Amino acid sequence: MEIVILRDDKDAGELVGGAIARLVERDSSAVLGLATGSSPLPIYDNLIARVEAGGLDLSHVTAFTLDEYVGLPVDHPEAYRSFIRRVFTIPAGISDDRLHTPKSNGAAIDEACADYELAIRSAGGIALQLLGIGSDGHIGFNEPTSSLGSRTRMKTLIEQTRVDNARFFDDDIDQVPMHVVTQGIGTILEARHVVLIAAGESKAEAVAAAVEGPLTAMVPASALQLHPHATIVLDDAAASSLALAEYYRTTFDRKPDWQSI
Ligand code: GLP
Repeated sequence: MEIVILRDDKDAGELVGGAIARLVERDSSAVLGLATGSSPLPIYDNLIARVEAGGLDLSHVTAFTLDEYVGLPVDHPEAYRSFIRRVFTIPAGISDDRLHTPKSNGAAIDEACADYELAIRSAGGIALQLLGIGSDGHIGFNEPTSSLGSRTRMKTLIEQTRVDNARFFDDDIDQVPMHVVTQGIGTILEARHVVLIAAGESKAEAVAAAVEGPLTAMVPASALQLHPHATIVLDDAAASSLALAEYYRTTFDRKPDWQSI
């Protein structure tokens, strides 16, 4: 696990945006795993700026998102498909037919989840998966006690997650759906590179538990300890509960220039 502690959002966007840009330069049809929530926005802004400046073409990539609310109309502004189209794929020039999001409406959810797993596999697997982290340590919408081997399926949100996400729903928790469909932890771990980004004090405890605590289903993000290529990108506040923060800073500062994340 590589832990990178940076000054601010802009540096995080530049670092991860650069890694994605290099990946796409090597393979123009790379498969990207996208996350919603506010944490990855600096990365999306960085990539959009590269596309607008003419230095990057994302039009041949394929994208899969992590999760989706159950029960929101597909065109609801906070449905994750709408969100990711608005903040990233449309401005980045990724067409709708290259954007895959879990289907979460209708009776056949189990079948749709199995189809989603198959679609990821048929695309050749995810090269780089972006992740945020919930204040309870969730990744995607895999709440505490999710199986570390879980696959795409329906889940019920913990109250704290609905409280955290109410800010996207006029601060009204009653508007936040109870159920979601999410890639499983086992699905996420199959991505060839996972990059988790977190900022702010409210994430510090979850980050410390995930990075330095025991591997446990109570902290779903701790499953990343099993991944051979996991990068955790933090600001000072999100890193403030880490026991070995100075070690991570020194390690990153001394990294050779040629070595990317
Ligand atoms: C939601 C999403 C997660 C995201 C988390 C944190 O619950 N399903 O994928 O990581 O929120 O969101 P934020 O980045 O806005 O703090």
